[in-house]
Amino acid sequence: MSGEHDRLPAAEVEAVFEAENVPRVVLEGFTQVYRFTAPLEPASKAFRRLALSHFLCEEIGVFKQGISCDEIVAAVVEAGLNGSIAFRVRRIRRSISPEEALALETGLNRKASKTMRLIVDLENPENNLEAVSSNGFIIVGRRICSSARRSIMTRSGGRKPFFHPSSLKVELARTMLNLARVREGSIVVDPFSGTGTVLVEAHELQTHPIGLDVDPLMAYSSRRNYRWFQTLVFQVLGDARHMPFRRADAVVTDPPYGRRASTHGFESLRLYECFIKEASRILRDKGWLVFLAPSRLPVEEILKRNGFWLKETFLIEVHSNLTRKLLVAFRG
Ligand SMILES: C[S@@+](CC[C@H](N)C(=O)[O-])C[C@H]1O[C@@H](n2cnc3c(N)ncnc32)[C@H](O)[C@@H]1O
Repeated sequence: MSGEHDRLPAAEVEAVFEAENVPRVVLEGFTQVYRFTAPLEPASKAFRRLALSHFLCEEIGVFKQGISCDEIVAAVVEAGLNGSIAFRVRRIRRSISPEEALALETGLNRKASKTMRLIVDLENPENNLEAVSSNGFIIVGRRICSSARRSIMTRSGGRKPFFHPSSLKVELARTMLNLARVREGSIVVDPFSGTGTVLVEAHELQTHPIGLDVDPLMAYSSRRNYRWFQTLVFQVLGDARHMPFRRADAVVTDPPYGRRASTHGFESLRLYECFIKEASRILRDKGWLVFLAPSRLPVEEILKRNGFWLKETFLIEVHSNLTRKLLVAFRG
């Protein structure tokens, strides 16, 4: 998993498994390594949605740091893989030095190439073997697939035709949708849609995205982004305090915080109060509300009053000098 946040990447994994109904048992993990047992096909389908993870592996073994290459290679032979292999060593948070990582990678590939039952192909291996060094252990696995992270980054701020300094980071927008457990066909509303970052990602997840923004510039110019990324978004000009919608499966949004994003004259807490009430009105039972708020704004009380259960809260850095809280709640 990525190291951007201590808890958020694992919470995102858990949320997509829940959204995609993947039966799983969570095992003891390591820093930036989430371990579980689950059927391969649904687990890899769910994994391909993720923003804050890098790759999914089928585990071959977990070894104490400092173990000989012979033992790791023996475990790979035991796994009985078909086709050529290549080891790649990754280090988490300076668990080992770059020199040690390089020596381990070279040692593993050399040992494997001298082993009768393995073929090493460093250029184009049929099996990419990842050896991740974390918390004094080496976790070795065969790579199954990558997350959506790379493709998500192709839609980041600078690559959009219409950008505004208040735009959400695209990987955070995707994570918020994943935390909202959206599924193919879900109706997803962003009542403060701005440049449309959340909604473009919502379209990528094959949902039905609906946007609302009170600022005509945002409501109209966001369409340039929808066209550019060939997304189908229903965009409306209007006020989040009176949403012109009847039903949603999820509300995922980044309300204005008054600095780069104007509240258009409304007091912040009052604006949250109105929008949460409206979210409660349009959300189906057990529908998710995932949103950002200034870290000191007491929105938890408002959630409770409007029938929401707060599942989790994360403190995150939204822009370089702005920390906000990310709230994940569902309508009880
Ligand atoms: C933080 S920005 C949203 C950024 C957006 N997530 C993006 O990535 O571009 C907040 C947006 O809320 C809009 N807004 C402010 N007050 C509103 C209201 N009462 N109803 C609807 N939109 C409002 C602003 O015009 C602004 O576009």
